[in-house]
Amino acid sequence: MSTGSLLTRLTCRGCSASFDADRPQTVCPTCGSALLAEYDLSRLEGHAWLASLPGRPTTLWRYRELLPVRDEKWISSLGEGCSPVLPLGEVPEAPGLEVWVKDEGALPTGSFKARGMAVAVSRASELGLTELFVPSAGNAAVALSAYGARARRKVRVYLPEATPEAMPEACRLYGAEVVRVPGTIRDAGIAARQREEGTGAFDVSTLREPYRVEGKKTMGWEILEQFRGDRMPDAVVYPAGGGTGLVGMARAFSEMRELGLLERPPRLYAVQPEGCAPLVRALQEGKPRIEPWAEPRTVAPGLLVPAPFASERVLEAVRETKGDGVPVSDEEIRRAMGQLGRRHGVSASPEGAAPYAALSRLLSGGRLHPGERVLLFNTGTGIPFLGSGLAR
Ligand SMILES: Cc1ncc(COP(=O)(O)O)c(C=O)c1O
Ligand SMILES: [Zn+2]
Repeated sequence: MSTGSLLTRLTCRGCSASFDADRPQTVCPTCGSALLAEYDLSRLEGHAWLASLPGRPTTLWRYRELLPVRDEKWISSLGEGCSPVLPLGEVPEAPGLEVWVKDEGALPTGSFKARGMAVAVSRASELGLTELFVPSAGNAAVALSAYGARARRKVRVYLPEATPEAMPEACRLYGAEVVRVPGTIRDAGIAARQREEGTGAFDVSTLREPYRVEGKKTMGWEILEQFRGDRMPDAVVYPAGGGTGLVGMARAFSEMRELGLLERPPRLYAVQPEGCAPLVRALQEGKPRIEPWAEPRTVAPGLLVPAPFASERVLEAVRETKGDGVPVSDEEIRRAMGQLGRRHGVSASPEGAAPYAALSRLLSGGRLHPGERVLLFNTGTGIPFLGSGLAR
C-alpha cells in the first residue's frame, strides 16, 4: 500500500543541483554538500491533514506524507515516535520560566536516534540496499543495529573506544558487527569510510545520507501536535553534536509555515559542552560554518563532535529561528543529570541533561525571559550510564 509520500526529489543546498530521490544518493557529487528531500506540499491541505492526525497510529509514521518511504511494506518500525512531553513545575535555577521536557529516552533503543534510523533503514530497504554501516558515538549505532535487524539488513558500526560498554553490547545483541576505533567520532568516520571503500555497503552517517534528518524532523511535528490548541513553546533547547536534530526541527517548522499551520517558530538553542563547542563558537562569531575544535573533551559522548558535517545547515537552522548557541560545563551537565532524576523523575544521559544545565545561563544571558514556555530535549535515557558515577 502506498504511504502517500509527497517526496519529489533531492536537492543540494550548496549548489542547487537536483537529484533522483528514487536511487540511493549520498552527498552532492559536484560540491560535496548534504542533499535534502523535497516534497510537493501543494498537494496537502494543511488544516485538514493536521485534523486527520489524531486518528492515526501513535508513531512517527503518522506523518507519512512528509516522509520518504513510498510503500508501507518497507517500513521497519519498533513503535518509534510520539515521545511524552512532561511539565517540570518549578525549576529553582530558572525562576518564572514554564519548563517542559520532551523525553526521547522513552523511544525504542533509548534515544531520539531511533527516529532517524527507522526512516533511513526503511528507505534504504525500499531502495534495495542490503548492507549498512555507521560511525557513531553510541546511540546511533544501537538504533541502526536494531532497525537493521528488524529490516534484515547487514550492519557494521564504528564506535570510539571511549563509548560506554553498554552501547557495543547492545549493538551485538541486535546482530551487528562492532569495530572499536581510537579517538572521537571524527576518527571513527575516517576509519569507517576507509575500511568500507569498495565493499558496496552504504554509509548511513548523518546528513551524508539524506533521510535520517527526515526522521528527526518528526520531533518538530510532534511539538506542534502536542502543544496544539495551546501555546507553542517560545524556545526549544537541544543538545547539539552533529546538530541534525536542529536541522530536522527547522525543516518541520518551515513545512508548517508553508502549510499555513505556524506563524512564528520556536527559537532553537544549541547547547554544547565547553570542551567541544564548534557550533556555539561559530554562532557567537557570526561565521557561516564551523572550524574544527582542537582537543575536544566532554563527559557527553554524543556531543564529542569536533567537526560536524554540513554545519552550514545547522547554523542556518538556529539563525533562521532567531535562536543561539550556549556552552555548559561538564560539571553543570553532571549536576543536571542528578537534578533531573531527584527533582523530576527523569532519567537523562549526559547529552540529554545538557539543556537543563543551560537554563540558568540562557536566563541570565537574556536569551530566555520570565513567563516564556521552554521545551528541553532529553535526547536519551541515562540507563547506559548507570554505574559510571557520572551523575551528581
Ligand atoms: C543522546 C544524544 N543526544 C544528542 C546527540 C547529538 O545529536 P545531533 O547529532 O542531532 O546533534 C547524540 C548523538 O550521538 C546523542 O546520542
Ligand atoms: Zn552541490
